[in-house]
Amino acid sequence: MIIGDQWLLLLRLFIIIITTTVPQLAHSMDPAFNDDVLGLIAFKAGLIDPYSKLASWNQDDDSPCSWAGVRCDPWAHRVTELALDGLSLSGHVGHGLLRLQSLQILSLSNNRLNGTILPGLTSLGTLQVINLSSNNLTGAIPEEMFGHCGSLAAVSFAMNGLTGRIPGSLSTCQTLVAINFSMNRLSGEMPSEIWSLRGLQSIDLSENLLEGRIPEGIGNLYNAKTVNLSGNRFSGRIPEDVGGYFGLEKLDLSGNFLSGSLPESIRRLASVSSIRLRGNSLSGVFPYWIGELRSLESLDLSRNRFFGGIPESVGNLQQLKELNLSMNNFTGILPSSISNCIDLSVLDISHNGLTGDFPLRIFRNNNLEVLDVSSNAFSGEFPARIGTAMINLQYLNASGNAISGSIAESIGELRMIRVLDLSKNRLSGSIPTEIQRCSSLVYLVLSENNLTGTVPLALSKLFGLEYVDLSVNHLTGSLPKELANLTHLFYFNISNNNLEGELPVGGFFDTVHPKPIVLNPNSNSTRGSSSSSLSKNLHHKRIIFSISALIAIGAAASIAIGVIAITILNIHVRSSMSRADPPLAFSGGKEEDISCSPSPSEPKNNGKLVMFNRDANFMEGAANALLNKESEIGRGGFGIVYRSSIYEDGRPLAIKKLTCSGLMKSREDFEREVKTLGKIRHPNIIPLEGYYWEPSLQLLVYEHVSGGSLHRRIHDQITTSSCLTWPQRFKIIIGMAKGLAHLHQMKVVHYNLKSANILLDASGEARVGDFGLARLVPALDRCLLSSKIQSALGYVAPEFACRTVKITEKCDVYGFGVLVLEVVTGRRPVEYMEDDVAVLSEVVRSAVDEGRVEGCVDGRLEGCFPAEEVVSVVKLGLLCASPVPSSRPDMSEVVKVLEMIRRPPES
Ligand SMILES: *[C@@H]1O[C@H](CO)[C@@H](O)[C@H](O)[C@H]1NC(C)=O
Ligand SMILES: *[C@@H]1O[C@H](CO)[C@@H](O)[C@H](O)[C@H]1NC(C)=O
Ligand SMILES: *[C@@H]1O[C@H](CO)[C@@H](O)[C@H](O)[C@H]1NC(C)=O
Ligand SMILES: *[C@@H]1O[C@H](CO)[C@@H](O)[C@H](O)[C@H]1NC(C)=O
Ligand SMILES: *[C@@H]1O[C@H](CO)[C@@H](O)[C@H](O)[C@H]1NC(C)=O
Ligand SMILES: *[C@@H]1O[C@H](CO)[C@@H](O)[C@H](O)[C@H]1NC(C)=O
Ligand SMILES: *[C@@H]1O[C@H](CO)[C@@H](O)[C@H](O)[C@H]1NC(C)=O
Ligand SMILES: *[C@@H]1O[C@H](CO)[C@@H](O)[C@H](O)[C@H]1NC(C)=O
Repeated sequence: MIIGDQWLLLLRLFIIIITTTVPQLAHSMDPAFNDDVLGLIAFKAGLIDPYSKLASWNQDDDSPCSWAGVRCDPWAHRVTELALDGLSLSGHVGHGLLRLQSLQILSLSNNRLNGTILPGLTSLGTLQVINLSSNNLTGAIPEEMFGHCGSLAAVSFAMNGLTGRIPGSLSTCQTLVAINFSMNRLSGEMPSEIWSLRGLQSIDLSENLLEGRIPEGIGNLYNAKTVNLSGNRFSGRIPEDVGGYFGLEKLDLSGNFLSGSLPESIRRLASVSSIRLRGNSLSGVFPYWIGELRSLESLDLSRNRFFGGIPESVGNLQQLKELNLSMNNFTGILPSSISNCIDLSVLDISHNGLTGDFPLRIFRNNNLEVLDVSSNAFSGEFPARIGTAMINLQYLNASGNAISGSIAESIGELRMIRVLDLSKNRLSGSIPTEIQRCSSLVYLVLSENNLTGTVPLALSKLFGLEYVDLSVNHLTGSLPKELANLTHLFYFNISNNNLEGELPVGGFFDTVHPKPIVLNPNSNSTRGSSSSSLSKNLHHKRIIFSISALIAIGAAASIAIGVIAITILNIHVRSSMSRADPPLAFSGGKEEDISCSPSPSEPKNNGKLVMFNRDANFMEGAANALLNKESEIGRGGFGIVYRSSIYEDGRPLAIKKLTCSGLMKSREDFEREVKTLGKIRHPNIIPLEGYYWEPSLQLLVYEHVSGGSLHRRIHDQITTSSCLTWPQRFKIIIGMAKGLAHLHQMKVVHYNLKSANILLDASGEARVGDFGLARLVPALDRCLLSSKIQSALGYVAPEFACRTVKITEKCDVYGFGVLVLEVVTGRRPVEYMEDDVAVLSEVVRSAVDEGRVEGCVDGRLEGCFPAEEVVSVVKLGLLCASPVPSSRPDMSEVVKVLEMIRRPPES
């Protein structure tokens, strides 16, 4: 029994091999074996069937008629249909199929079949349908394929990777009714013989690489209903006889390079329901006879070069559902007759030169769903009855016209509206609260109008909103905090308005952190240069704010963490009150006794002086001169500062003698760090000119800046007479910002920012000094935090005081923010009163919250300052001094914002 089975199997395999490789032998085989079983098993052998969809195909069965995808003739039990669509089959279409001598329908679409098309397929005289669409077939369509095509009626090779030409032999296959070769890479010219297929009803050659002219003769297709040649490279004119047979229903020649005007034969296409000519270079006028095409439901002439007026006769197109005339050069008015097209649901006349009133009022049909009139020259008032006129409207784009008046309250009747774009018009008035009834709204763009009033609370009721652009208007007031309820929001642009106050908290608005986006309000585009580079950081969400909104971010973020941070600060303040003296000169703050610091020894002769400036001439005995403490000019957290000179020309230098030297890094580390610092050159930075090193003594040599420290200029009562003006103060602020931005760009954290470390040169330019010294000290927190912090109290970022957070540039940004407030208010960062402590940033923050910013500006300015500019600067300072490091901007962003504040928009 077992032996018998094996013999049978071997015999079957032998037959398969013979019949599949030598097809002509097949007919002489013993009919006792079912050819269909053999053929299908052989066919299966060429396939990869990852999901075992063909598991039922058992070679031991006598009949394949119960197999998956197989259908048989009920009397002869021969396979008539093989339908294996969408089974993820890969591999090739093998010769085994040629055994299926009664096969009528072969449908293998939506698989991953690769390899080439089996040429002999059509030799199966019974085959009526071949559907190999949506596979991965390659190579050319075999020329011989259609030589003897038996009774083939429909063939689809659509959506494969077929190349080469369309075989001319196709025309001998007179039984063909439908050809679909779309979405391949077929090339060359189209064989004109195709038009001789009298029985052809449907031909789809779209999305290939066919070129040349569309051959004349298309009028011979007496039965054609569908002709689709779109998405190729056809050029020349549309064949004159295109309307030769009036049975044509669908004509699609879009996406080619066709030119010339519409052939008049088209007017004979009495049954035509769809004409698509989009995206060619067709020109001429919109022919008046178009109105004779009474069956027309869809007409697309978009993206061509048609010109002139739209004829009244379009009103005769009673069946018209879709009319697309966009991106041509049509002029004149939209004929009122169009209101006769009562079935019209899509009208796109955008990007033309159409004029006249905003065309809404001429519609009296309730079927319109899409209306795009954007980028024309429509004018007149926004129609008051818009809502009642078009209750089914889902898409309205009227952007880029000259429509005036206010947005009608009836807009709330547009219950179906999903997209509403009225941008770039002359709309005035406020955004009507009725808009909250447009509950389907997803996309709302009202930018570049003249809208006033507030951002209505109503917006927060439109829970589907994803995209909102209200930029470049005159909106005022604050944003309703309920906007945070809009959970689907991913774009919200309110820049270039006059909004103020805090941002909503939560939802979309939380994604503003960690990095606020600064939009240049002077830029005309909605994607300012700074915003585009930053938006990457914001996942897929984007938000764009004007400066005022940006500032609000910081204020909002401070609420939660602010309380804790201030408490910590106050504890520090109280514990240090007794020993805190007002800072003095260069480095401010009296030196505290530092346990780690042995007092610096006197210089020995084995020291090494290194100067970075090679051009200068040094006087003799420079090193000794260096150590000559002729005049002490300051003491600070890192050491004592003298003035001295080693240059022949006597140019003074500021020499900083580092204390805490026991904690200094090894000589190699020290030198490496100092050399890094020595490379930093910037007009707003005091350059490190060199250093002196010996084991127990280290000196840093700086350029001497003559104008004294910022601290003295602000707080020294004696100099009140020469009080800094607002422009001088602004110059100092922007100078500090630029200097710090440069430091950060060079990857150096200043760490020790305070007004005593900002010097002013003769021209009043701020110069940042004493930077980066933390790099020289490895045991940073032990030595410095214990006592030095107090000298810089008020400038130190709260997270640093907590000792848990790494020192980053953001610490400097905090210090900078405090400096800004100090410069504007003329007050110290921390002021001690009888039994209270005033922290400047908190004082100013509450002043801003209460809307009395100007009240905290330095009294010595006596009201001589541009309020708007000062307020912006104060808000920026507060943002920088935000207790949350991540909501502080980068210094480079700060510089940009300051530049914007200095040059407000011309308008
Ligand atoms: C068909 O695909 C299989 C694997 O998916 C591959 O091994 C074979 O080379 C492909 N054949 C052709 C002709 O591309
Ligand atoms: C081929 O198959 C596709 C998808 O399965 C189907 O949409 C199409 O109508 C079929 N074409 C023919 C000619 O049977
Ligand atoms: C089709 O073939 C191409 C290249 O021959 C290959 O990159 C692609 O992944 C294939 N597609 C499928 C669905 O197998
Ligand atoms: C041709 O085949 C593609 C893919 O199956 C299909 O989308 C398209 O509608 C077909 N064309 C015609 C005219 O049936
Ligand atoms: C549109 O027509 C005007 C005059 O009728 C012409 O100046 C302009 O160049 C045309 N534009 C295009 C894109 O053809
Ligand atoms: C905006 O409105 C104001 C006052 O309502 C008016 O003066 C101004 O001209 C308008 N601007 C535009 C561009 O319409
Ligand atoms: C919207 O947000 C507010 C607070 O901002 C809240 O009180 C209200 O319940 C929210 N409404 C809905 C419908 O979620
Ligand atoms: C902004 O527009 C004005 C005129 O509308 C133009 O003069 C200016 O150059 C534009 N600025 C930019 C940055 O494009």
